Formats: sequence, structure tokens, C-alpha cells
Amino acid sequence: MIVGQPVDRRDGRMKVTGRARYAAEFPLQGLAHAVLVQSTIAAGTILSFDTADAKGQPGVLAIITPDDAPRLQTKKASQQMVTAPLLQDKDIIYNGQHVAVVVADTLDRALEAAARVRVQYRQGEAVTIMDQALGQAAVPKHFRNGARPPDSQRGDPDAAFATAPVKIDVTYTTPVEHHNPMEPHATIAMWQGDRLTVWTATQGISGAQTTLATLFGVEPQNVRVVSPYVGGGFGCKGNTWPPATLAAMAARVVGRPVKLVLTRAQMYTSNGYRPRTIQKLKLGADQTGKLLAMRHDGFSQMSQPVLGEFVEPVALATEMLYACPNVAVSHRIVPVNQGLPTYMRAPGEASGVFALESAMDELAIALKMDPIALRLANYAEIDPHENKPFSSKKLRECYAQGAAKFEWSRRTPGPRSMRDGRWLVGLGMATATYPNNRRAASARVRLGTDGVAIVQSGTQDIGTGTYTVMAQVAADELHLPLSHVRFELGDTRYPKAPVSGGSSTVPSVSPAVQAACAALRARLFDMAIADPRTGWSGASHSDLRFENGVVIGPDRRITVPQLLAHQNLAFVEAEAESKPGDEKNEHSLHAFGAQFAEVRVDLETGEIRLTRCVGAFDAGRVLNAKTARSQLIGGITYGIGMALFEKTEVDAETGRIVNANIAEYLVPVNADIPPIETILVANDDRIGNPVGVKGMGELPMVGAAAAVANAVWHATGVRVRDLPIRIEDVLA
Ligand code: MOS
Repeated sequence: MIVGQPVDRRDGRMKVTGRARYAAEFPLQGLAHAVLVQSTIAAGTILSFDTADAKGQPGVLAIITPDDAPRLQTKKASQQMVTAPLLQDKDIIYNGQHVAVVVADTLDRALEAAARVRVQYRQGEAVTIMDQALGQAAVPKHFRNGARPPDSQRGDPDAAFATAPVKIDVTYTTPVEHHNPMEPHATIAMWQGDRLTVWTATQGISGAQTTLATLFGVEPQNVRVVSPYVGGGFGCKGNTWPPATLAAMAARVVGRPVKLVLTRAQMYTSNGYRPRTIQKLKLGADQTGKLLAMRHDGFSQMSQPVLGEFVEPVALATEMLYACPNVAVSHRIVPVNQGLPTYMRAPGEASGVFALESAMDELAIALKMDPIALRLANYAEIDPHENKPFSSKKLRECYAQGAAKFEWSRRTPGPRSMRDGRWLVGLGMATATYPNNRRAASARVRLGTDGVAIVQSGTQDIGTGTYTVMAQVAADELHLPLSHVRFELGDTRYPKAPVSGGSSTVPSVSPAVQAACAALRARLFDMAIADPRTGWSGASHSDLRFENGVVIGPDRRITVPQLLAHQNLAFVEAEAESKPGDEKNEHSLHAFGAQFAEVRVDLETGEIRLTRCVGAFDAGRVLNAKTARSQLIGGITYGIGMALFEKTEVDAETGRIVNANIAEYLVPVNADIPPIETILVANDDRIGNPVGVKGMGELPMVGAAAAVANAVWHATGVRVRDLPIRIEDVLA
């Protein structure tokens, strides 16, 4: 078996030697450069542009403003497609909104000219801070794309809470955060007649193809999207944000290929962010710790409704994580003059489970109960919200194996009860869960006379290991050595695959790869049976095997080159689609985890150091022990960022983001990250999908922040309910 082995990343050498070509790096003849001009006010209308000075600069090819921008088919586009203004009108919704695009023959000249575009505005009233707009909180109109209402209730949580002997009634808040992938958003667009090719940094080439085709009114097959390497996405490359469309618009206007790369600062205004949340939690329990009532009311920051709608689904995990008879959740959005928020690693769960699992810690303290014991007392044997069995759930094993590795038993319950010299020591834990998502995906495989299988799928590798694990799946299915499998992705010429979001790439694409390889083997068997030289006529597929490029059957064997030669073929090819069936009607599909953090807090300075993290996860079958561990380390690190560092700061007066750079927007660096120990609990979930995998890109992010916050409480006795946790919080 090649699946499961810690195979090195197949794209690793390409990346570290600089040969992997990212979107901005495709050399094209006559490439021009586009630079965005952005609003300096937070609300209002554009009165006029003064472009004379800019136009007179050397090398300028075009200055595109709403006055002369090509009209796009925005009415035909879904709201996901029009994620911010596309120079189609003059309304200003937020500070930093794109108002014009300048194109020149070099980047420097485009920058110079862009700085000389003058814009006159009529300034409107802006509310830029969510907490000042709570009166405008609204019920979402398109929650989960209309698949369910934003609120749910089972039992009578308010009555049960009123009479519960032990109660927690608290509010948690999380800040706006930005994704900050290493590779900024970048697009090169080229038109040849009505055919558009874009090289773009995206988590979803297929979505980009649909969006661009719709907006420009061309057939989808006339739009080719190429994205072989993506330097991180984390959600901000999930939708097709305006810069990609504006690059294509600019290319059409100047009749040359155009490159548009966002600056790091523009990565804060142009492709979404994790919205601020305010979450009200009520938990009621009996004296033994049995949950009697849960209420989770979530508010998340939104832009103005004209830009569409994004809801941070903070309370979904609260519905299903614990066996509680009385549960209510709600989701509200609060419009401000900021850009549109979007998915960011573990959207919903990261913010929501921070609140839920902090509240569970507070409940354990009120009950004088061990935090793991409290969770086990409320363990959901079936999904209590959907009232269905889980396809598989190894959360008990996660708690047990994680606790053993972390040596949870050394924890003394009281706050400030563990010390190491001048350091207060704190141990905290939290549960993680994330849906095991799967969407329809297709793949094709071609086997030629050289014995090499070329597998193609229009999926993405956003740094996660898709190239590597899909080759492993194909190698096993075809009984070929890994060296004889090539996997290609990131091109809409390949069979269609879904967006790499919601941790769905592996659960969606690996079954398609497996199915395509099975179809190829079946075709080879058909050929071998039909080949008079094998003497197998009348045999069935079960009489044959395919191993190391050889079809083996009764009394003889035949190689693929022989089979192909007999029929004058250069290769044999098969394609397959794999999609979810009715498993979701019968089962609830989720991944799980138990996360542990150890912190040390300096008694005098309040300095918070993480000294150890352990995470035990049920992520189904593991395709590659090494890339899986990388995902877990990355997710936990992202969660540590959420717990202790990340916060986007807005100047209330101007609505401008003031720390739009990775010097002042704090992210953890290596020195902030302790040893991270990970456990993948043995599981193989063939109900969720035929490969047995569960997505694991977002899962390890989910419990990290609460585990850290709970550890900080244990060290200091200070409960921090507003992320990120900073020194000043624990010095109070
Ligand atoms: Mo993920 S936030 O669904 O890219």
C-alpha cells in the first residue's frame, strides 16, 4: 500500500528551487501591468475623476473608471460572483474599495500613474465598527444558500435554562482577521478574440471559469483557468474576487495580456476576511454535569447588503456536538461600511467552537468537574440535531489518546495551582469538530506504452498535498509504483472538480481518482478479454488482475504495450465522476478532535508562552502520514494565531484598516510555536466516501483557540472572552 505512507511532497523540490510557476510568474509576450486605485472614504459617491495628469504619464495604456468600464453581466451572476463592486457604479461602500484600474507597460509606470488619479467624492454617513451597528442586526436571507434557516431549536432551552441548577451566561467576541497567504492574489489575463485565458491564484478554477464567463458574457468553454501552484488560500481564494475580473477587463480594454498582483496591503481590502463575531452563550446543567440547556446566539459582521451576504455560521457545532435535549441557536448579521467578509479556515467552527468550548470550560469550573469528564458526560452517541447516527465518530478515542500523550492527569484543577519558577503553568483542552464535506468530482487517467499513468483532475493544490496524495491513491488502485503515476491539476481543461474549500478536496477528488483508475482497469480487462491472442474469451474481470502494468489471467499474462500494439492504440484512457449518494440522508458526517495546550504565563510581566500542544484527531483514513501531519501542524498554528495574535484594526473615523501588513497584523512566528504533537486516531469511514477519508484542513484549527484560552485561565485565573488574548488581559 502506498496510501498512508509518509511520501514526500511531489511538488516540494519544484517549490523550493523556484521552478514551480505561480500565477504571476507566467511569462507572456507584451504583458502589461494593472494597478488598482482605491477609495479613500468609507461611504458615499464618486463625483468625478481627474485623470489628465495620470494619462500624461509615460507608458500609460488605459485608465478604467466606472465612467468607461466595460459593462459586465452582473445581473446574471450569482451573488457569490459579485463579491464587491466591479467599476459598474459609483457608490462607495468601504474604504479601500476599487474605484479605477490603471494599466501601463511596466509596473512602475502603472504605480506612478495610479498615484496621480484624483477622485472627487461626496462623502456619506459611514458606520465602520460592528459594535456601533448592532441595532442594524438582521436575519440572514441566504443562510447556507437557503438549505436551512439561520435559527434552530429543539426542546425548550429557555425554560430548561431558567430552572437549571448550574448556569453559564456569557458573551465571547472574536475580531476581524485576514488570511495572509504567502502568495498574494495574482492574475494574468489574456484574450484571443472571445477566448479568455487566466492564470490566477485560486482555490477553485471551475468557479473562476463560471464567474468570468458569466460576467463577460462568453461561453464557459471559452474561458480557460490555469492554476498549477497556489501559495496558500485559507478561504480568501475561494471566490473569484474582483481583481481577477478587473485583470480580464483591463486585458480586453488594452488588447494585451495584463497582470494584476495585489500588494500585501491590498490583501486586506480586496478578497474578504473573517468577520468579527459577538456570541452569547448560555449553558445550563444539572449537578452531575448533564447539559439541560444550550443557547448560542451569534452575530457576525457583514458589509452593506448591496455587496451580497456572508454569514459566519458560528453555532452549527453547538447543535450537534453534545447530547442536550434543549438547544437553540441563531445567526444574525450586522452591516457596516467594510468590505465583504468571507470564509477563513474553519469558517463558523473556528469562531463558534472557541465560544462553545470556552463556555464548556467555564461550566466545568462551576461544576468543579474535570473538563474532559464534562465532555464525556455529554457525549453525543448520535447527532442530536439531525437525529442520525454518525458515519463514524472516534472522539472518545481522541480524548483518551490525546489526554494520555499530553499527560492531562498531572493537571491540578485550581487556577494558579501549577507553577514552574516565575511562570504560572496552565493546561487547557477543547473539542474540535468539522463537517466531512464532499462534492461531485471527476478525474481521467491515461495509460500509454511507457507504462506511465497520467491522472488529471481540475482540482487544486493550495499547499495541502493534493499532487502527492492523489498520485498515491492512483498508484494503489492501478497497482503501479508511484514513479509510474503522474497527477496533473489546476487547469479547466481537466475534468471538473470542486473548489478546494470546506476541507472537501480529499473526500471529493480521491474517490474520483479511484473511480477513474478502476474504470481504466476495467477497460484494460475488456481489451484483454477481446484480444484473440490472450485466449481469454469468455473470461470475466474477476479472473484477471492488473499489477505493475501487466494484465494477469488464466495461464498467461499480457503487458499494456502488447495490448495497445494489438489494437494499434497509443494509449488507453478512462474518465469517471464520483459524487455523494444518499449517505447524508442516513448519517451525519463529521471529523473530530481533542486539542490540548500548555501555557506558561510570567507572574510579573504577563508574558504568555505556549509550551506544548497536543492534538488527537479522527480524520478518517489517512492518505499520507506526512502531509496529514503538516495539515494538523498548520491548522493548530493558525489556531494559535487566532488565540494570541491576530486582529485587524480599523480606524473608526475613516474606516481604514490601519495594520494592513504582516508587521503590525501579528501572526505567530516559529519562536511562538511550541512543539506540536499530533495523533491520528485509526479510522476508515467508508460511509462518508469510498476512500474512507475525512477532510482535515480546517479541523485542527477548530479547538486550538479554546484550548489556549482554557489553559490561560488555568494558569492565571483570568477568563479571556475576547480574542486575541494579550498580555494586558492577564495583568488585570
Ligand atoms: Mo476554506 S475557509 O473553506 O478555504
